[in-house]
Parts: sequence; C-alpha cells; structure tokens
Amino acid sequence: MESALDWHTARALLEWQLEMGVDETIGETPFDRFAATKEQAAKAHAPEVAKAPVAPVAAPSVDPVAVAETAAHAAGDLEALRTALGAYEHCELKRGARNLVFADGVPGAPVMIVGEAPGRDEDLQGKPFVGRAGQLLDRMLEAIDMSRERDVYITNVLPWRPPQNRDPKPEEIAMMQPFLQRHIALAKPQVLVIMGNISCQALLGKRGITRLRGRWDEAHGLKALPMFHPAYLLRQPHLKREAWADLLELRARLQGQT
Ligand code: URA
Repeated sequence: MESALDWHTARALLEWQLEMGVDETIGETPFDRFAATKEQAAKAHAPEVAKAPVAPVAAPSVDPVAVAETAAHAAGDLEALRTALGAYEHCELKRGARNLVFADGVPGAPVMIVGEAPGRDEDLQGKPFVGRAGQLLDRMLEAIDMSRERDVYITNVLPWRPPQNRDPKPEEIAMMQPFLQRHIALAKPQVLVIMGNISCQALLGKRGITRLRGRWDEAHGLKALPMFHPAYLLRQPHLKREAWADLLELRARLQGQT
C-alpha cells in the first residue's frame, strides 16, 4: 500500500502502537496458517519479504542544532521561547508526544530545577514532574520549606516524552541544548539543581551522578548542584539520606551560609 506518511511520522505511529500494547501485526487478507502447507506458508511470506520497504535515509538538509540556536536566541522572553519550541520541527520526539512540556513553578524563582524528560503523566498534562517522581520532588521541597508554587522553577532537558521513556539520544540532547541554555538565561535563577545523569550530561558535560551529587559545580555561569533524580530515589529509597543532605546544602546556600 502506497503511504503518504514520512518516515519520522510512520515511526512515531509505530512507537505509539507499541506503547498501546500492540504486539502483533496482521495482513489485510485472512490466512489460515493451520491449513497451509509449509510450501504455501513460504509462498505467502515471500511477497511480504520482497515488498518490505527499505527505509529511506533522507540526508538532513538543515543542521537541527543551528536551527535551534537561531530560534532560541530570537526568543525575548519565556513565552516566546515556549512558542519557538512548539514550532521547532527537527526533533522526532515531538511527533510521538501528546504535549509540549515546557515548565512549571515560578519564573524568576531563585532555584531552577532541571529534570531529564517528561514521562507519561507529564506528557498527558503538559507539565513537568507531575507523576510519582514529581510528587516525591514536591515532598522533598516541602522538607526544606520550599514549594513549586513559591520558590522554584522547573523544566527538563527534553520538552517531549521519549517513546517508552527511553533515554534521549545524544543528537536529541544536542538540538535541545540551545533552548535549555536560553531557558536558563530568561528564567534568571540564582542556582540550578540538576536532577539525574541525563541532565548532568546536558548541563555539565559529564555523567556519574553518584560521584557528582552534592557537590556544587557550574553550568552556564551559575552554581549548579547535581542530585539524585526523584525517580531513581523511588527505586533506591536507601539513597534518600544523600538526597536529604543535598537538600540541606541547597537550603544553606540559599540562606547564604555556604
Ligand atoms: N522525570 C523527569 O526528569 N522529568 C519529568 O518531568 C518527569 C519525570
């Protein structure tokens, strides 16, 4: 069947079907495999194999990172940046996502939290950290008398949910970097909190959260504190002790004690 879909859209649709639980494909005409002899079965399969399309690998005519840089720099405020991200067409994650997940909390708050990527709940609601990990994040903030309604601004390295919550690809992180950098410049926090390895990779250019966490680093000219990701803490609750120490460190810096 001739298809008008481009490769990225077709792939996003397939990934969506997988996510919905599709685990088998069927043909348009019925085929009784029990009745078929081996020979018939082989024949029935042969045309399908022969017809299998070779995925065309279209050479990108533009540099997605350069496009992102131009779009991000042109954004004069956060709303313009949200619009620019929404109009960006070079990240294939966008096609599989339900919503753009831009930010939550208070723009201009002293703390900007940078997570990794939206999950299912965030994709549905179009807001970062609203699922189980987000609820834990809210409790962590509450433990040091902070809240997303008052004291923090929250975003992610990626604004679209990766299919099956897979790790983002390096090229996806690279094309989102200019937007993230501009996001930080426009939100003007005093400090960054970097949640998890993907965010450390994007902002610090390094991974190894167990080693990095709890030590102030620097990203885009700001003090930045790497921490265990709340989703990781849900799987490894014994690490909450370290997370608590990091929260106290954050509070101490905000109060000018470190
Ligand atoms: N994990 C993240 O890193 N970000 C979210 O928004 C949700 C879960």
